[in-house]
Amino acid sequence: MLPTPQRFRIKSFGCQMNVYDGERMAELLGDAGMTAAGDGEDADLVVLNTCHIREKAAEKAYSDVGRLRRGDGSRPLIALAGCVAQAEGRVAMARSKMIDIVVGPQAYHRLPEMVAEARTGARPIDTDLPGLAKFGALPKLRRAVPSAFLTVQEGCDKFCTYCVVPYTRGAEISRPFAAVIGEAHGLVEAGAREIVLLGQNVNAWNDGDRGLDALIRELARIDGLERIRYTTSHPADMSGALIAAHGEVAKLMPYLHLPVQSGSDRILKRMNRSHSADSYVRTIERVRAARSDIAISGDFIVGFPGETEADFEATLNIVDAVGYAAAYSFKYSSRPGTPAATMEDQIPPEIMDDRLQRLQGRLAEHGRAFNHACIGRDTRILIDRVGRKPGQMIGKSPWLQSVFVETAARIGDMLDVRLTDALPNSLGGVTLARAQAA
Ligand code: SAH
Ligand code: SF4
Ligand code: F3S
Repeated sequence: MLPTPQRFRIKSFGCQMNVYDGERMAELLGDAGMTAAGDGEDADLVVLNTCHIREKAAEKAYSDVGRLRRGDGSRPLIALAGCVAQAEGRVAMARSKMIDIVVGPQAYHRLPEMVAEARTGARPIDTDLPGLAKFGALPKLRRAVPSAFLTVQEGCDKFCTYCVVPYTRGAEISRPFAAVIGEAHGLVEAGAREIVLLGQNVNAWNDGDRGLDALIRELARIDGLERIRYTTSHPADMSGALIAAHGEVAKLMPYLHLPVQSGSDRILKRMNRSHSADSYVRTIERVRAARSDIAISGDFIVGFPGETEADFEATLNIVDAVGYAAAYSFKYSSRPGTPAATMEDQIPPEIMDDRLQRLQGRLAEHGRAFNHACIGRDTRILIDRVGRKPGQMIGKSPWLQSVFVETAARIGDMLDVRLTDALPNSLGGVTLARAQAA
């Protein structure tokens, strides 16, 4: 029998929901008497919180496992968590003898007891998807970062033909209204100034007849909470009430991540996205009518099976029509078990490379234009990091840009600034007090 692990390390990959889960697992292991290993410190329990969305991300999980063997041949106890654990389960255990525990995203509350089982040499697996069990089992948070994640919804019923999420995270479920509000109060008491509501389809969140807009309005009443954000949304679930909230709730930040994936209706249909290019652009217009300064971001896939040059040009056109402030773009990655994996006309890698490069060039132009248009604005930032230069701090603008500023303000402070410079991926600013004195 192995000794009880003393120091653990959790490495999270993939989306913010994994970051949130990683934080919760850390609290759970802390309550079980273990401490987090510091930088460079050796851990005797390592949790790899993995992502399955693209082939590269999934393969990384296995190479990370291999790297955990120490110079003297020994190794820590290894728990495979996250979406690779959920998708591959027993296969993962067979593939790597080094994996001691396989724990899927809905079973994290069982991690401490699974660690105890693993110490006896058993190799426990839990990839059941029982819904909301893990949330109720979480211990109370002691200290929160200024911008805290709060998962309100998990899973997906949309079944886009390229995507593994409906298989790795299960069916769409929403946490109850009261549970979310309760956790939000705890986060604010622990020091959060901003809450980012998370879900694979966060705007599908509901509790009875209450939708995400009602949840946001209730959160806005919490004293000490300054900002609310939410991600990721699906175009089909962008309700009129949620759009209206963008114009009415001052604490709701002017930023919307709304993935479109492609600008070609033919490809959107093959992807089983329920929107068209046109309906998507009309949704954006309605959001802008409610909140004219809103920053729009999106996700794109190039090289989906059957994508022609004309289809790709339609994607460039929608990029121009929307004028994205920020975006994430990916080469299509064939995922075993998804319908797109067996479609005809898979696109050769060199065509994907070329399209990705052209798309990213276009997206970067729009990103720069958005940042330039912000110069001269007076706004508030939430300080979240220390800058590299002495006296420099970094904060987030309402539009999610990083803003560099010289100030004595500290992490967690809200600071009034004037935006003065646009850098490639960030902005420079001066405190409003200094700008007005000059
Ligand atoms: N629920 C969200 C996020 C899903 S995953 C949504 O629907 O938008 C995040 C992004 O990864 C997706 O928006 C998509 O652009 C990308 N993605 C998902 N599966 C992919 C695949 N097989 N190949 C390449 N990119 C993929
Ligand atoms: Fe995946 Fe589509 Fe669901 Fe997003 S909406 S998680 S892309 S299946
Ligand atoms: Fe990856 Fe799972 Fe998130 S596949 S993107 S970690 S939901």
